[in-house]
Amino acid sequence: MDAITYVPPHKGLVLDQITKRFGSVVAVDRVSLSVDLYEFLAVIGPTGCGKTTLLRLIAGLEKLDDGHIYILGECVDDKKPVQRGIRMVFQDYALWPHMQVFNRDFYSNLSFSMKIRRTLPVNIQEKVHTIASRLGIGKHLFPRKPDELSAGQKQMVGIGRAMTIKPKILLLDEPLSNVDPQHRLSLRKELKDYHNRMGTISIYVSHNLPEAFSLADRVAIMKDGKIVQVDVPSKIRERPANAFVKGFLQCFEL
Ligand SMILES: Nc1ncnc2c1ncn2[C@@H]1O[C@H](COP(=O)(O)OP(=O)(O)O)[C@@H](O)[C@H]1O
Ligand SMILES: [Mg+2]
Repeated sequence: MDAITYVPPHKGLVLDQITKRFGSVVAVDRVSLSVDLYEFLAVIGPTGCGKTTLLRLIAGLEKLDDGHIYILGECVDDKKPVQRGIRMVFQDYALWPHMQVFNRDFYSNLSFSMKIRRTLPVNIQEKVHTIASRLGIGKHLFPRKPDELSAGQKQMVGIGRAMTIKPKILLLDEPLSNVDPQHRLSLRKELKDYHNRMGTISIYVSHNLPEAFSLADRVAIMKDGKIVQVDVPSKIRERPANAFVKGFLQCFEL
């Protein structure tokens, strides 16, 4: 008789053979991946390889065609986005256009999630001010609506909004793509510090390989909806899995 082995539930995020099709396009193609608790994973790959779709599937914003997703040991296939304990920074910001950046008396982009959770106004105020000063969102921007902000400022508000509630998983879709180079380094550090402070899982999508390599514990490289290699940066550098990864590294002279 076979011995019965006890397999403890995985405490992080598990993607089990997940697939998403849009018509004839297979945006995410049988992806399997485990991300540990406290891990910072970067996902990189060329435009159109399925990075955003992968994040949207984890967040529950797209429905799986196949496979299963587990968060902290629990299958979330049928859970709504709000039930998954996820915060997401969207590539296209997805700010509420009719709301100001921050207003202590009304629903606003930075206060909304806390207000619907009935957080005390004094705590909302304190949290927003702390996050805004860390991200360099000046108080003069608080009364503005998204169409009165630059792309980089919108990106900061999107990051700030995701930071107002502690998530199980933080999903970041190219969060610094519109930030000017002189602020990029300090903001990278803010994101990494936030990840460490919160003790969350972070998944950081980028098409900037040096950024991914400098931030992440492990890096997953995607091509045509599939993960072609996932490993720590040094291993990817030493031993690229195939010609595609090698070519990708050479583009960035790594
Ligand atoms: N809502 C959608 N409807 C149809 N096709 C889509 C949709 N979203 C993404 N796609 C397609 O799926 C593929 C992956 O897209 P995406 O996940 O946005 O890639 P990435 O974020 O890596 O640029 C692309 O071919 C894209 O055109
Ligand atoms: Mg994308």
